[in-house]
Amino acid sequence: MAKTQFTPRAFSGIQPSGGLTLGNYLGAIKRFVEMQDAGSYETVYCMVDLHAITARLIDPAELRNNTRELCAGFIASGIDPEKSILINQSQVPEHAQLAWIFNCIARMGWMGRMTQWKDKSGKNAEAASLGLFAYPALMAADILIYHATHVPVGDDQKQHLELTRDIATKFNHDYGVDFFPITKPVIEGAATRVMNLQDGTRKMSKSDPSEKSRINMTDDADTIAKKIRKAKTDPDPLPDNVAGLTARPDARNLVNIYAGLADTPPQAVLDEHAGALFGHFKGALADLAVSKLAPISSEMSRLMQDTTEIDRILGRGAERAREITVPILEKTYDIIGMIRS
Ligand code: TRP
Repeated sequence: MAKTQFTPRAFSGIQPSGGLTLGNYLGAIKRFVEMQDAGSYETVYCMVDLHAITARLIDPAELRNNTRELCAGFIASGIDPEKSILINQSQVPEHAQLAWIFNCIARMGWMGRMTQWKDKSGKNAEAASLGLFAYPALMAADILIYHATHVPVGDDQKQHLELTRDIATKFNHDYGVDFFPITKPVIEGAATRVMNLQDGTRKMSKSDPSEKSRINMTDDADTIAKKIRKAKTDPDPLPDNVAGLTARPDARNLVNIYAGLADTPPQAVLDEHAGALFGHFKGALADLAVSKLAPISSEMSRLMQDTTEIDRILGRGAERAREITVPILEKTYDIIGMIRS
């Protein structure tokens, strides 16, 4: 069989399950903007609202607000809804339609081995939603309904990407086609894994009960500076090389955040600040963070003033997306033997 040539296309998604954090920005959105601007891929970015309801009941007004805020965050950070396709998952119904097909391709055993499923369902898996179990099949559908070839994600999503490849491989094999691409993950690289400001061994999370643990993209300048000043550190000065940070997770986190915001490698930050105490370094970091983040947060609140405009952008994004997804779904149904008339 001749190998199908797929258009280079990148897809990624973020859940509108809470507010946007610095972790979403440095770990994901900033990279999405770089991929968009590099121009080597078509780029599709998605608010995954169908995923957001898998873990818990979200108040409808909150879900709507989170989704719009995430959209505003994408745009304020530099995602251009003309250059990229910017969508909300539920507004492109082919994601959920292909997910059903993939529910019939993926095996219970594959899903049961997902570490995120095990972590999130915890000791009481019986009480978890069926949607949480099927989450990775919907994620595979998000990607493959665009025939996406590349997916920028954090390290924690690597296993889901492998599952996406397994689903594509099994579909292609079962039906004797070369229809779905074997998508490549684009893991972190230069991107920063931002950790909890009060515990450098855990990921910064929108669901942590402590506000001090994270920087929200909607925080104003004062709040940003205060949270950085209160971040956990140790009494030692900054080392002169990154190896000196290995056993110092809180210190390493602040250096990484500085590097991410300044767009420079962590070693370059240490070249400049080696020997500095945290009292001093935190001041420099607070200034840098405010100068980079305050314009984004003020642009987000400006965009949030006009939700009609945000909804219009999402409507337009869905229209553009469906030019790609409708034909791919039609072809999938046809391959499977479903009548199209
Ligand atoms: N599961 C991803 C996360 O929690 C979000 C996501 C959903 C996603 N669908 C996707 C990421 C498709 C990349 C591609 O981070």
